[in-house]
Parts: sequence; structure tokens; C-alpha cells
Amino acid sequence: MSNKISVIGAGTMGSGIAQVAASNSCQVTIVDSFPQVLESSQAKLKSILNRLVEKGKMNEDKTQHILANINWTSEMEEIVDSDLVIEAIVENLEIKQKLFSQMESLVSEDCILATNTSSLSVAGIASACNNQTRIMGIHFFNPVPLMKLVEVIPTEKTDERLVKEVKSILEGWGKTVVTAKDTPGFIVNRVARPFYGEALKIYEDGIADFATIDWAMKEFGGFRMGPFELMDYIGNDINYSATKAVYDGTNHDPRYKPSPTQRKMMDEGLLGRKSGKGYFDYSESAVNPEPKKNEELGREIFNRILVMLINAAADALNGSIATREDIDIAMTTGVNYPKGLLKWADDIGLNIPLSQLKELQSQYGDDRYIASPLLIKKVSENSTFY
Ligand code: NAI
Repeated sequence: MSNKISVIGAGTMGSGIAQVAASNSCQVTIVDSFPQVLESSQAKLKSILNRLVEKGKMNEDKTQHILANINWTSEMEEIVDSDLVIEAIVENLEIKQKLFSQMESLVSEDCILATNTSSLSVAGIASACNNQTRIMGIHFFNPVPLMKLVEVIPTEKTDERLVKEVKSILEGWGKTVVTAKDTPGFIVNRVARPFYGEALKIYEDGIADFATIDWAMKEFGGFRMGPFELMDYIGNDINYSATKAVYDGTNHDPRYKPSPTQRKMMDEGLLGRKSGKGYFDYSESAVNPEPKKNEELGREIFNRILVMLINAAADALNGSIATREDIDIAMTTGVNYPKGLLKWADDIGLNIPLSQLKELQSQYGDDRYIASPLLIKKVSENSTFY
């Protein structure tokens, strides 16, 4: 069982991964090229742990134990005796490839090498290495200590035995693990795209404003946050890049087409909470518009976004990106959807989303509404996903 873990990159994700591994009694080495990033990572972790002690959620001994388990360093050579290295540096293929090649030259043959990339091809990163059988994606969600889901992404060359080993390590850390194919956005970042994209399209079609669309998804769908408040929370730059990566990676599948509205927001620096303004205004004196609570309109909005989400989930299953169970677990655990989308579709009856998609396609003449072949097949067979 792996005990010596190295994490490369002491930013948001690397620091979170190090915290979780160290909390589970692993010896952790965290490497970053910038000493000030290492200092800030260490200071942030101390403050997080202090807050947990103040709230009575952790005792002092445990915090000392966690801190003692982590070695912050700018020396890559210190990863030499690792059992598992997780890379969480800047999202750039060439830089990651260079790092993997360096990691391969430092660690032993038995060490597993993983990337936390969210939008690059794992096989593309691994291609820089001689031995690709020990390389896989381990995709955590932010904030790592709070988000239970982890997507594990083997490439066609990854040794199945090592995938099992990694899953058991992550489960030992209390994570819920799903397996995804090495395809753009893996499960969550692909299947969730219509939550944002269709909400933006509804706005662009002049059907409703941001507040009303958010209200509809919470009121009728039971989602914890509406698409626009969530995009403001994630950041329009990050959310736009995630959409663009899936769109480019799927040879411009019209279902994932980025929105001109979001592009404009990004270009204007209206990024959301972090810039003080996005779809909503976060300044102290701000008065944001109230939703127009019309039940018929609200249900129409919710149904339109839900059928697009169901279609994306069906298409992920059709492309064997993951099992139906893992697709549903990923969406309920990774983005807190109230129900798994495939189960939800079964409960509604598959002919309903299919006929809504057909209606939308004939109304707008837009290929974004083309139904997944699997949804069509299931309806024609009068069957269900489960
Ligand atoms: P970040 O910018 O907070 O941290 C990246 C860190 O890597 C920086 O501190 C930088 O100094 C360091 N770094 C860059 N090149 C390096 C090198 N060659 N050697 C050592 N350190 C180096 O980025 P963040 O948000 O933590 O993302 C890291 C990775 O995780 C990216 O691949 C990102 O796509 C992925 N990811 C991010 C999520 C998020 O919500 N932020 C969620 C899931 C995955």
C-alpha cells in the first residue's frame, strides 16, 4: 500500500491533495518551483487546521500529525522514493510532458505517476514517458478535502493492476472513486456542460433573465445553485475554458458550443465573484434583480436544461466513457445534482426527453438538440437505462 506520496504543484489543487494524503497518515512531499507558493501553501494549511480546531472538528495532536507528515520543497529530487506522484501544475501540455519525463527519470520503476489535469488528454501527457503503463489521471475536485468524488482515468496503456491499487488508496482516503475514459472533460466536466450552456442559450433566446433561470433550476429541479450563480462562483474564465476544451476535444460537437455571452463576459473581465461582478453584482451596495416567478415558464426552463443534461449523460454512456452507475455517481457526488441523470431519465420515461429534444430541434433548427443514438435506441426498444 502506497505510503509515500509526492504532489507536484503547491497551488489550490496540489495543496488540497497534500492535505488529504497527510490526513490519512501518508508521508507527503509537495514540490513547487516557487518558494513563495510553498510558503503560502503551508500558511494556508495551518490556518485551515486552526479553524478546524477552533470549531472543535479536530484536535491539536491531529493537526500536528498532519503538518509533520508534509515536506514542502522546491527540489524535484526529493520525490525519488515515492510510491505515487500526483502532478497538479499549470494546465499546459508541453510543460506537463516535460515534467513527466523528468519525474520518470527520478522515481523507481514501481512508482505510479498521475496527473490531475481537467482538460488535457492523459495519454498525451503520458506520451513523453518511456514506461506509460504506470501513468493515469487522478482527477480531484475543488476543494479537495470537501469534495468526495475522484475520477480515475486509465489510458489504453495503463496497467489495470495499478488502477485497482490507486482506487483502493483513494477509497482509503474516504473518496468516492469512479473510472472514466480518457476523453475530453472525463465524466463530470463533460456531462455538466449543458447546465451552463443551455442556461446561457435560454437567456440568449430572450426567454428569461439570469435570476429567473437560477430560480427555475432550484425550485423545480432541486439543484443547490442555479447555473448563473454557479458560473459566477466558478469564474467565467474557468467555466468558458472548460466548455471550449470539451468543444475542441469533441471536434466541435454542437452540443458543447461555447456561448458568445460568456465569451463576452470573460473578455470584459466580468468573471464572477472573484472580480466582484459577473451575471450578478457582488458589491456591498448591489441590488440584484428578483426572479420572475412564473410557474409555467420556470418548468419550461427546467425541463429544457434537464433534457439537455440527460442527453449528455446518455451520450457519455453511448461513448463508453463510464458505466451508467459511475455517470450517475459522478454527477451526484462531483456537482451535487439531486439525482443521477440516467436514473432521472428512467423515472420520467425516456420518450419524454426524446420528444422534447425533437421539438427543440425543429423549433430552433440547431444541431445542439440532436438526440443521442442511445436515447433513440432505448425508446425504440421501449427500455430504460437501468
Ligand atoms: P494553481 O495555479 O493554483 O497551481 C499550480 C502550481 O503549480 C503553481 O503554484 C505553480 O507555481 C506550480 N508549478 C507550475 N509549473 C511547475 C513545475 N514545472 N514544477 C513545479 N511546480 C510548478 O493551479 P490549480 O488550480 O491548483 O490547478 C492545477 C492542476 O489541477 C491543473 O492541471 C488544473 O487543470 C487541475 N485542476 C484544477 C481544478 C480547480 O478547480 N482549480 C479542479 C481539478 C483539476
